[in-house]
Amino acid sequence: MAVSSAPGFFVSFEGGDGVGKSTHARLLGEWLGAVTGREVVVTREPGGTEFGREVRRLVLHGDHVDPRAEALLYAADRAHHVATLVRPALERGAVVVTDRYLDSSVAYQAGGRELAEDEVEQLSLWATRGLLPDVTILLDLDPVVAEARRTGEPDRLERAGDGFHRRTREAFLRRAAADPGRWVVIDAGGEVSDIQAQIRVDVAARLDLTPVVEEAVRVVDADSLPGASPASPEGLS
Ligand code: TYD
Repeated sequence: MAVSSAPGFFVSFEGGDGVGKSTHARLLGEWLGAVTGREVVVTREPGGTEFGREVRRLVLHGDHVDPRAEALLYAADRAHHVATLVRPALERGAVVVTDRYLDSSVAYQAGGRELAEDEVEQLSLWATRGLLPDVTILLDLDPVVAEARRTGEPDRLERAGDGFHRRTREAFLRRAAADPGRWVVIDAGGEVSDIQAQIRVDVAARLDLTPVVEEAVRVVDADSLPGASPASPEGLS
């Protein structure tokens, strides 16, 4: 399969702390690269750029930050991330998979910190010049279960308390229900391999990749028949 020159695909992972977003973002990125032949950029917020790593340190590892200052810091990270990394990659035709994006601000700073939802959303839309993902995967898990899975010292947001994390989860679920065309909701309580398989099926359908995936599987199967020529590196021709 030839590398497509069409514009890229933008996929975001959302959910509470400790639900496995970074693992699934990496696994999905590797798979999308193999089946589409496209460049893949796996990134995250906050901290996907050098500037963002400074913001991340301020917002997660400093002392108290006023909620509006917190919202502005995440938006500043996002503005720079989109302008310097995400949008240029999408314009090159890459697949961009980000661990958190704008919906985290709405869930944490509006849901969790109880700022106005439309204001937080507008701030991020302004910061990103309106860039929304093609698909957003919500890995949904009870925050009490997620907290029990966590290892290491909690950061400033992880210490925000049960009510905060419950409101954040509810905000994610509300947003997903309001825009089912963009969102896929997955129960993050199972095995990594089962969750990843479900993510791949849903993302392939949303990005119209199902025929590409079927072709990739067909080529790999044919190559494994006796006497067949070896598959190309990605199992694709
Ligand atoms: P990180 O370690 O990346 O999260 P995770 O626990 O998912 O690996 O930390 C990011 C923290 O910042 C997380 O608690 C969510 C929070 N956050 C916001 O509050 N607003 C935002 O816009 C973003 C992107 C993250």
